[in-house]
Amino acid sequence: MKKIVVYQSGTGFTAKYANWIAEELNCEVKEFKTVKKDELSHYDMVIYGGWIMANMVYGYDKIKALNLKNVIVFGVGMSVPNEEIITKIAVQNEIKQERLFYFEGGYNPKKIGFLKKMMMNMIKKSIEQKTKKTEEDIHMLETFKGADNTNKECIKPLVQRIHNEE
Ligand SMILES: Cc1cc2nc3c(=O)[nH]c(=O)nc-3n(C[C@H](O)[C@H](O)[C@H](O)COP(=O)(O)O)c2cc1C
Repeated sequence: MKKIVVYQSGTGFTAKYANWIAEELNCEVKEFKTVKKDELSHYDMVIYGGWIMANMVYGYDKIKALNLKNVIVFGVGMSVPNEEIITKIAVQNEIKQERLFYFEGGYNPKKIGFLKKMMMNMIKKSIEQKTKKTEEDIHMLETFKGADNTNKECIKPLVQRIHNEE
């Protein structure tokens, strides 16, 4: 089965997962902006990774518009993975849950622009103001200081899902 990993990454965390996945699957990996029009239709499977912005998988709309027959998606955000988040991402992006994976990335304030940082600071403030903070809130506040929470182990279910189809 001819497959390719394609991704969009703002600060590098999604790129890291994309490269790990391609290495495990022994397939090509490309940044979406370098992919030529019509190129992806020549693959039996496209594994698309985008960073999460306001629950949207960045760039997935462009992949959807290509009407490819076999797409697996992974989203990379700073939230701690749980079922609720995955369902929210699946619904908002119109992705079948069995085709969607979510991985924890991190936060690199040095690599994001002013407006995005302002948005993130607002979210940070709203967590800080909570009187009763959950473990996840505390973890998020730590991440806001700047953190890489990527973990190669997390790609195993995605890799397995793809091997099952081969
Ligand atoms: C404007 C903005 C909005 C974000 N929204 C979310 C979100 O809704 N959920 C989430 O888990 N992470 C969110 N994040 C965090 C990023 O998804 C996270 O830092 C991710 O690891 C970035 O991946 P990248 O390094 O590939 O760009 C947001 C970040 C920014 C800058």
